[in-house]
Amino acid sequence: MKKSTVYDCTIIELDKHHQERGNITVVENGVTVPFDVKRTYYLYDVPGGESRGGHAHKELRQLIVAASGSFSVTIDDGSIKRTFLLNRPYQGLLVVPGIWRTLDDFSSGSVCLVLASHVYDEADYIRNYDDFLKYKR
Ligand code: TYD
Repeated sequence: MKKSTVYDCTIIELDKHHQERGNITVVENGVTVPFDVKRTYYLYDVPGGESRGGHAHKELRQLIVAASGSFSVTIDDGSIKRTFLLNRPYQGLLVVPGIWRTLDDFSSGSVCLVLASHVYDEADYIRNYDDFLKYKR
């Protein structure tokens, strides 16, 4: 996915079961997300003004969801940047491999839920922006 672009990343509408008692959103492998979820993690208690991400992945696909509150995700393919404000627990941003991402503007109490296609592997990260630009060439 060296050639992936920001236009390969899209907002996926997740189903929402609305009830008087509250809502439920369900994510199922192969149904809602175009990959099998092998790992789930969530970011929380992010201090105001703090930024997360700042890396790309070579193989990992992710669905990023604002399970609570809001934050923005800026994706960058080395040529074009797009910024999404995530603030709905029934929407997820699909981020394909080969995309630099930065998460900012976390609201107080926000929870960033990430569904990932692979287990954690530091070797899959590109953490240096110049290396990322070289990788995309
Ligand atoms: P990192 O992915 O760099 O965080 P973010 O993109 O949210 O800023 O991960 C931060 C640290 O957490 C890193 O040192 C490795 C560790 N970590 C794991 O051990 N397992 C995981 O699944 C994740 C996502 C991170």
